[in-house]
Amino acid sequence: MKLTIFNGSPRGEDSNSTILIEQFLTGYNRINSDNVSINYISKSKLEKERKEIFRNADIILIFFPLYTDCMPGIVKNFFEDIFELKINKSKKIGFIVQSGFPESIHSTFVERYLNKFTQRLKCEYLGTVIKGGVEGIKIMPPVMTKKLFSRFQDLGEYFAKNESFSPEIKKKLLKPYKMNFGRKIMFFIFSKTGMANFYWNSNLKKNNAFAKRFNKPFVE
Ligand SMILES: Cc1cc2nc3c(=O)[nH]c(=O)nc-3n(C[C@H](O)[C@H](O)[C@H](O)COP(=O)(O)O)c2cc1C
Repeated sequence: MKLTIFNGSPRGEDSNSTILIEQFLTGYNRINSDNVSINYISKSKLEKERKEIFRNADIILIFFPLYTDCMPGIVKNFFEDIFELKINKSKKIGFIVQSGFPESIHSTFVERYLNKFTQRLKCEYLGTVIKGGVEGIKIMPPVMTKKLFSRFQDLGEYFAKNESFSPEIKKKLLKPYKMNFGRKIMFFIFSKTGMANFYWNSNLKKNNAFAKRFNKPFVE
């Protein structure tokens, strides 16, 4: 069966999701050389076309970044669109959620939603692969991304052979699940010295938004 991929990053082609898809496909293509259709949810002009691609696909993987502990708005929109399609042909759907924070626990809540959503679509849920600590992979030297990329390649290879995610690789990618004691101490020291907010504050200042950092625009 033909694989169809949706990339849910608002950054589109220039995203970490793209890099992970490329790595996944490097492994996938070791086994299966069929063309894989890659679709960017960020391309709003292709909304109708995207729905049809979804309707006709058999095996679907949706990659997206975690945004405020959930999914980017464009991904939620896409989910609402495909729910309205009232699909009558069963499909296999899997998800890859990647985030900035290193601990994968952050993405486990949206994972529950994805499972339920796939059941409501009356499709087969292939599971959700979660990977934290992905921000910055674009600028990291190869030595720092080697393990991550090789795991995504193996994930792709296994998927091409079995049409499912390798439970073993999934488990490895899930680490670290929570912050360990050493990291908690380090973070405590950083927050006391103001270093934890240094990067974010400098960005706020660069964008003339520092004074507005505690604003609550949606609170009456
Ligand atoms: C608006 C916004 C919200 C985000 N929210 C979270 C979050 O709640 N938790 C987290 O771990 N990372 C969060 N991130 C970081 C992204 O998940 C991370 O940078 C990801 O690798 C981006 O992938 P992409 O380049 O494919 O879009 C957020 C990033 C943005 C821009």
